[in-house]
Amino acid sequence: MCGIVGGVTNKDITSLLLEGLNRLEYRGYDSSGLIVLSKNNTFNRARSVGKVQNLEDNLKARDHKIEGNIGIAHTRWATHGEPSISNAHPHISKNSVSLVHNGIIENYIDLKNNQLKKGYSFSSDTDTEVIAHAIDFAMKSCSTLIASVQLAIKSFTGSYGLGIISSKYPDQIVATRKGSPLVIGVGKNANYIASDQMALLSVTKEFIFLEEGDIAEIKIDKITIYDSEGNLVNRKIITSQLKEGQVDLGNYDHFMQKEIFEQPQAVRDTLESRITNDSVVISAFGYKAEKIFSEIKQVQIIACGTSYNAGIVAKYWLEDIAKITCNVEVASEYRYRRPILLNGTLFITLSQSGETADTVEALKTAKKINSDISTLCITNSAESSLTRLSDLTFLTHAGPEIGVASTKAFTTQLVALALLACSIGKLKKSINKKQEKGIVDGLKRLPGLINEALLQETQIKKLSTRFKNKNSALFLGRGTMHAIAMEGALKLKEISYIHAEAYPAGELKHGPIALIDENMPVIAIAPNDELLGKLKSNLHEVKSRGSQMIVFEDENSKVESMDAMEVIPITSNLGRITAPIIFTIPLQLLSYHVALIKKTDVDKPRNLAKSVTVE
Ligand code: G6P
Repeated sequence: MCGIVGGVTNKDITSLLLEGLNRLEYRGYDSSGLIVLSKNNTFNRARSVGKVQNLEDNLKARDHKIEGNIGIAHTRWATHGEPSISNAHPHISKNSVSLVHNGIIENYIDLKNNQLKKGYSFSSDTDTEVIAHAIDFAMKSCSTLIASVQLAIKSFTGSYGLGIISSKYPDQIVATRKGSPLVIGVGKNANYIASDQMALLSVTKEFIFLEEGDIAEIKIDKITIYDSEGNLVNRKIITSQLKEGQVDLGNYDHFMQKEIFEQPQAVRDTLESRITNDSVVISAFGYKAEKIFSEIKQVQIIACGTSYNAGIVAKYWLEDIAKITCNVEVASEYRYRRPILLNGTLFITLSQSGETADTVEALKTAKKINSDISTLCITNSAESSLTRLSDLTFLTHAGPEIGVASTKAFTTQLVALALLACSIGKLKKSINKKQEKGIVDGLKRLPGLINEALLQETQIKKLSTRFKNKNSALFLGRGTMHAIAMEGALKLKEISYIHAEAYPAGELKHGPIALIDENMPVIAIAPNDELLGKLKSNLHEVKSRGSQMIVFEDENSKVESMDAMEVIPITSNLGRITAPIIFTIPLQLLSYHVALIKKTDVDKPRNLAKSVTVE
């Protein structure tokens, strides 16, 4: 979703704002803008449609430089109002208040009608402009900017992360959050705000993570924070473990490519201290994990997008290894159903960002329905809404993922879920020591196996040319490979804009086989498991309908190659845990190379955002 960055310093802030926007661009990129207060306390704003580069060009083309010590900036992912200059943030009210917003104000139409009656005029179609006017109006009856914001936000329904400056209070930024992330960066002779710590890594490693409803007054040498009740609070300063270089491209052309190739290390980091020689470390899920896991009777997994696909794999594992019932559902559906949540449920949220609005709300809904359930989040983001709301947290150590299409976050989520299935299985005694060791050995082999799978890139790159003029593709798999097929289809859709569907191979005959002809490439995954014989029959059914096929197989699967069928052995001796993780790799590489052929914007595909923090 939208990205926010801002700061109060004793130097010119503009270059930092631009640098921050570049680092945040993955959150939304249909427009961007910044505003600074110049020496005479007037607003100086620049906004552009499209990528941050357009904003940089806009600034360079100006006769008068935009300069000042205090400013805020924004990258937008449109929700209300088309991508246009007038809808781009920052928004201004009456030359007194300017702000950037991440979130959605749901009651903005009522507020707007009221403000029109009070004489305010609107220059955008956004839900954000009402916030600026509401604060300007509150300033008439309040003696500080923070008090004005406190008063104004009482009238909002919805979610917000806000950075606010005022020409009447030129020494401060006021920041507040509800339902959207916001951090304060603590600097030397400077303090900052951002929707994501990554935006500020070049200037500070010290962060304060605002809690739900917190509001802060940020001056160059002082940060004052109040909670949602208006009480003065002390929030801890946390030193970020992120390294600046982790968010740079290095020698790669795209972040997605870099992140695909980082997977051996990401998996290694995620396993570190979570396994011993032959067993899983249950306390990796939190010190209460052993007690909670021993008592649970069923599992409910909630997630969106790629994380949802990881959840489907986990269902197979949890039922097979831990012998525990598991349901998986997308968060946007779950939160609006009236689900039944039995006592003894372990409610798991999966989320790379830990901030996906639907997932966060689904967790809150679940806690309201049954406050006795136990909650676990598996996330890549240590200080996120999900970690704050959950009893247990497992952090995947994938490192920052910038490419909008998720890659290393997915494979490390699978690693976490394998550890979970093994931990619960161990406590429930559904696996013995030998089986546990078998799973642990498999996990240890993963980095090497991923490296082997990555070696197939040249061959996959060649095959990607087949998709140049294709509009559709079908992905087939059985068991956990159906979920991996779903992930492969999602990747292809996201970055190459080819319509792709995944089907359980056995379901082919109930509909999708009607679609198959020479224009519909079929990609199948053939691990050497108990369903291989059945999958081979399915492949014959497809082949006889004239499709061009690509089969990724385990070397021992020995799929017989036929005309117009390319069989690519990925590696060998994969087991029930390693196979879904390893077969993900060729599908990631395939979508990446097809996207290059289609000349799409790999890291920032159209209409998508990395972290969807609005509904
Ligand atoms: C967006 C991203 C996807 C991601 C999904 C869930 O749609 O584009 O890549 O899988 O959100 O995000 P989460 O952070 O909750 O895993």
